[in-house]
Amino acid sequence: MDKTRKVQGGDSARQGALRLLAAVEEGATLDEAATLIERLGPSDRARARRLALEVLRRSDRVDALLAPLLARRPRPDIRRILRLATVEMLALGEAPHGAVNAAVTLCRGLGGKGQAASGMVNAVLRKVASAGDAWSALPPQKLPDWLRGPVVAQWGRDVARAIEVAHEAGAPLDLTAKTGSAPGELLPTGSYRLPSGTQVSALEGYDSGDWWVQDAAAALAVRVLDPKPNEVIADLCAAPGGKTMQIAAAGADVTALDISESRLARVAENLERCGLRATLVAGDALEWRPEALLDAVLLDAPCSATGTIRRHPELPLIRDGGAIAGLADLQALLIDHALGLLKPNGRLVYATCSLLPAEGEDQLAAALQRHPDVKVEPVQTPGIEPEWLTDQGALRLRPDLWPERGGMDGFFIACLRKSG
Ligand SMILES: C[S@@+](CC[C@H](N)C(=O)[O-])C[C@H]1O[C@@H](n2cnc3c(N)ncnc32)[C@H](O)[C@@H]1O
Repeated sequence: MDKTRKVQGGDSARQGALRLLAAVEEGATLDEAATLIERLGPSDRARARRLALEVLRRSDRVDALLAPLLARRPRPDIRRILRLATVEMLALGEAPHGAVNAAVTLCRGLGGKGQAASGMVNAVLRKVASAGDAWSALPPQKLPDWLRGPVVAQWGRDVARAIEVAHEAGAPLDLTAKTGSAPGELLPTGSYRLPSGTQVSALEGYDSGDWWVQDAAAALAVRVLDPKPNEVIADLCAAPGGKTMQIAAAGADVTALDISESRLARVAENLERCGLRATLVAGDALEWRPEALLDAVLLDAPCSATGTIRRHPELPLIRDGGAIAGLADLQALLIDHALGLLKPNGRLVYATCSLLPAEGEDQLAAALQRHPDVKVEPVQTPGIEPEWLTDQGALRLRPDLWPERGGMDGFFIACLRKSG
C-alpha cells in the first residue's frame, strides 16, 4: 500500500477511492486501508470511502456489463477506473459527462500505458452511459460459494437472492439512545434509524454522548439479555463496546473483556464519550474468572462477520471461508467457559454477526447437547416479528428482513438459562 503517492488531477475523492480499491485487491479491509486516505479533507475522505463501498458492492455486475464492451481484459488500474465511472453513472446517477471526463483524466494521470488506454476508456464509458437498461437487467452481486452454499441449504435460493439485493442496497445509520431518544425514526425494536450517508458528528447529541452508532440487529443482543440495575454481568468479547454501553446504560455492574488491548481502548473512549462506566479487562475470556459467579453473561463471539457485508462489502473478496471451522471451535469453547461463570438460574446470551448456521443454529444445538442443565429461554423481546424466531426459540436476523425499512445486519442471538 503506497501512502505517499501525490494526489493529482484535482479529483482527490476519486483517487482516494481507487487507492482503497487497490488495497482491497491486495487483501486489506477498508478499515485497514483507511490510512491511505487520511491526508484527504473530511468530505473527500467520506466520498472516497463511499465510492469504494459502492464499487465493491457491485464489482461483478459492473464487470458483466463491461465485458462485451472490452476487446481484452484491462490492466487492474484501468479496470478500477472503468468500474468506478460505471458505478458513478449507473448506480449513483451521476452525470455521465463528469464521470467520463474524470475517468479519462485519471487514466492520463497514470502516464505511459494509462495515456494509451484513455481513448479506449472514453469510448467504452460513453457506451456505458447509455446502458441503463442492460444494467438494470443484471443480477446483484452473488455471495461467494462458501457462503451461498450454506445460506441456500438453510433458507433457499430466494432468500439468498434477497440477501444479495440487501447487500447491494447498503446499510442505513442506526443509533442506540443511552436513555430517552436519539435523532431519526424510532424502529419497533427501540433503535433509531437515519438515511445512510448521514454525517454522524453533525447530529444533535453526539458531543454530549446521548447515543452511539449501532446496527438495529446488533442492539437486539442486549435487548434479549435485558440487563437490570445492579445485576453483575460480563461482556466477554466487548470491543468496540456498543453492547457494553447498552448494559451499563441499563444500570448493571458490567465487566467488559477483550483480548485486544487496542480494541479495548476504543471501549474506554466510547464509554467516556457517553459518560458510562464499566470495569475493563484486557485478556483472553477463556482464562478469565470473576471473583463471584455472575447474574448474566453476554458472549458476542468472534465470528466470520458475514452478517455485516452490507457495511463491509470487501469481506467476500478477501475471505475464503477457511477460518470458519477454527472460529466455530473457539465459539464452542467460549460458550462452555461462559456457562461455567454463571450463578444457578443465570443467563447467557450468545450472539454472532454471522449468516452461517455453523456459527448460530448448529452452535446452539451442539451447546444444548453438551449441557443438559441448560435450556433455551425463548426470545420475547418487544418489537421483534414472529418469523424472526427459530424453532429453537432463538432470534435469526438477516439483511433481507425489514426490506421496506432498510434491512438490518445478519445476527444469531440465543438466550440460554442455566438450571437453578
Ligand atoms: C464481534 S466482536 C465484539 C463486538 C462488541 N461486542 C460490540 O458490540 O461492540 C468480537 C470481539 O472478540 C474479541 N475476542 C476474540 N477472541 C477473544 C477471546 N478469546 N477473549 C476475549 N475477547 C476475544 C475480539 O478482539 C473482538 O473485539
